[in-house]
Amino acid sequence: MQIRSLVEPARVRREVYTSEDVFALEMERIWGRAWLYVGHESQVKSPGDYITTTMGLTPVVMVRDARSGAINVLVNRCGHRGAMVCEARTGSIDKGVFRCPYHGWTFRADGSLRSQPSPAGYKDVGFDKNNPAFGMPGVPRVEKYRGFIFASLARVGPDLKTFLGEIRETIDNMVDRAPGGEVEVTGKVGHRFRHPANWKFFTENLHDAMHPMVAHAGTSAAVRQYLEQLSQAHGPVPEAEVIAPFGGSYDFFDDMGFVGLPRGHAYMGGKKSIFSHYEVYPDYLKSMEEAHGKERTKEILSFNRHNSLIYPSCTVRDNIQSIRVVIPVSVNETIIESWTFALKGAPPNMLERTLRYSRLVNSPASMVGPDDVNCYVRIQQSAASGAIEWIDMRRHFGREVQDGARTTATGTSDLALRNQYTAWLEYMTDTGERS
Ligand code: FES
Repeated sequence: MQIRSLVEPARVRREVYTSEDVFALEMERIWGRAWLYVGHESQVKSPGDYITTTMGLTPVVMVRDARSGAINVLVNRCGHRGAMVCEARTGSIDKGVFRCPYHGWTFRADGSLRSQPSPAGYKDVGFDKNNPAFGMPGVPRVEKYRGFIFASLARVGPDLKTFLGEIRETIDNMVDRAPGGEVEVTGKVGHRFRHPANWKFFTENLHDAMHPMVAHAGTSAAVRQYLEQLSQAHGPVPEAEVIAPFGGSYDFFDDMGFVGLPRGHAYMGGKKSIFSHYEVYPDYLKSMEEAHGKERTKEILSFNRHNSLIYPSCTVRDNIQSIRVVIPVSVNETIIESWTFALKGAPPNMLERTLRYSRLVNSPASMVGPDDVNCYVRIQQSAASGAIEWIDMRRHFGREVQDGARTTATGTSDLALRNQYTAWLEYMTDTGERS
């Protein structure tokens, strides 16, 4: 496959979204190598707690080991004949072991095989209980950054901090917004939203600032109309605070600015976001100032990245405390999971704000997300049918500014897309061994 022929500096071939071969190679060279977000340590607080998810197409289980206290990420498959061991999304292992539902082999939280029924049948048949192949294999690399667990299916590569680079400031700010210095996942399972489209449409849409005023026009107009009908005596409408900015002008999004980083990471905003004018609750402000002092609080709350992409596996909104996780299923199917976080030490109205945002913007029943999915499906169909051959990304091409490792541009530049394809090509054409 001629990967390089699929991507030009300002356009990509339709096959990047439709080819099964391209998708398979993405799973091997991007999802099989990058650090991928797996979960948060608050999801496995007690010994034996686990959650299940996937890394690319590989099913995994993240578990708190009762013996060592460590958080392990194991491939969720039995070492006997390969059955998936844990089906539940979340739980706690009984008696400290996983038990395969097929023939009852059991595994410790570090993945090693503990027992198999009627062991005499395995005598003198070349079976070694200590052979890791008969266990649940550990994912080669697992690291934590401020409570967020990332893992990589590749044995070799940069460490997590190096991989994240500047984008880790987004995680820092999300945690710093907690007066108690920690965040915690809310609920056992995030919103799951099936997108009948390739995973890249979601990551590309994140910083496509030319779409909100068009794709979300109906939604934001309805909110504005509703507000106009309300009497002046009516107090603030929190739902409007969430929805109305989606109808922001081109100038508004241009001013926000875009910053592309190495490895496909990126963010919009910095000082200005559609959320920078959100009401800051007085009781929250007080708890922050008590914890951090006035100056530091001001610094934390004026850090306003609009949306951050940790390529390829998640997007983070630090000022709303939400993470969306990308789970590719096939070349034309993707699950997006949205997780909300509580700020330790903050009053309950901050959590209500986070949940409101998630319900109105990110959930499958939201007022915003389905507008986007509708657009992804339209491109997916055109690309699959051959109605379009090349997909354009030339807006403000050549006008970006290199600033050290950063590439910056006006907020409505298609650099947001081009930056991802720079990383995509680097991953996809790198033939080096990682195992
Ligand atoms: Fe798991 Fe047989 S497949 S015990």
